[in-house]
Amino acid sequence: MDNPEKRLNNPENRKEDSLGNSLRPKLLDEVIGQNQLRENLSILIEAANQRSEALDHVLFYGPPGLGKTTLAHVLANEMHVNIKVTSGPAIERPGDLAAILTNLQGGDVLFIDEIHRLGKAVEEVLYPAMEDFALDIIIGKGPSARSIRLKLPRFTVIGATTRLALISAPLRARFGAVYRVDYYDEQSLAQIIERASVLMELEYENPGVVEIAKRSRGTPRIALRLLRRVRDFAEVRGNGRITCDTSKEALGMLSIDQLGLDEIDRMVLLTIIKKFAGGPVGLSTIAASISEEADTIMDVVEPYLLQLGFLSRTAQGRIATEKAYQHLNLPYKIGNNAQPSLLK
Ligand SMILES: Nc1ncnc2c1ncn2[C@@H]1O[C@H](COP(=O)(O)OP(=O)(O)OP(=O)(O)O)[C@@H](O)[C@H]1O
Ligand SMILES: [Mg+2]
Repeated sequence: MDNPEKRLNNPENRKEDSLGNSLRPKLLDEVIGQNQLRENLSILIEAANQRSEALDHVLFYGPPGLGKTTLAHVLANEMHVNIKVTSGPAIERPGDLAAILTNLQGGDVLFIDEIHRLGKAVEEVLYPAMEDFALDIIIGKGPSARSIRLKLPRFTVIGATTRLALISAPLRARFGAVYRVDYYDEQSLAQIIERASVLMELEYENPGVVEIAKRSRGTPRIALRLLRRVRDFAEVRGNGRITCDTSKEALGMLSIDQLGLDEIDRMVLLTIIKKFAGGPVGLSTIAASISEEADTIMDVVEPYLLQLGFLSRTAQGRIATEKAYQHLNLPYKIGNNAQPSLLK
């Protein structure tokens, strides 16, 4: 089975992001798309600035590669404060978090990526820190143990997660603002690709850019990665110019179809359709049949298939819809999924 690390349109694969760091927008005005979110953020920033206060705690959620990390940096830049970057799995013990917190300065942003993976004990330290800007430390053991409260400067936690449902209610309640980052439309993606082409000093034609945008599954990280592959192809097989034809040919060679689906996406759909008569079938069963991790399917494959309306999720499991059959050129029989009452 294809290794997800190698998978070209797996938005979780960030290997090339280090190269792409310079492509990251730094200010809100440079962020493309996400109009409503951008407006909400600009109000949040302006209000905090007017009151000369630290920004409220912010939580971003949504599929990988849509710009959560970028937006966290943009917020820190707009507020002219430092940003300290960490992640849920990196903070193993309460002491690790205490060390980070005591090093923050007033107004600083603490960015916690994959915040749904914070341990329970660490979360308990985070609650009073976010709410009262205080750290409770226990000194000593047994009957002589006592707790002292350390004051922290006012700071801002920005959390990012692909799984909002896994965030405990008390943690979620401590965020003053919770925003969903959504897939991008084709036009915004085309603008993102164009901006990157200019920064990378590439020669391009608009239809070539649009062709890449169409196949980027609404995800900037994938758009930028596909742009690099098309550039390679154009340099090796063509004259370096990104045209409609070079884009089409390069992406075709990578088995990425018109909608941006790749081998794994098609395999998931074909497994449901061919092995399980269209479903319903459980996620773990699908994962086992194609030797893929259930988490990868849930975070990366499924959200986009749901968005396209190729899958529907029921209590009984996943069902392939008529649209999925059509896309794969397979005959659809009414009653394929014999539970119409569940198909709402
Ligand atoms: N609105 C945007 N305009 C221009 N470029 C963008 C935009 N959003 C994201 N990008 C680019 O897409 C890439 C991925 O963004 P980012 O790393 O912020 O995603 P993410 O949502 O944090 O993903 P993950 O959940 O995997 O951490 C970055 O290299 C960034 O340059
Ligand atoms: Mg990120």
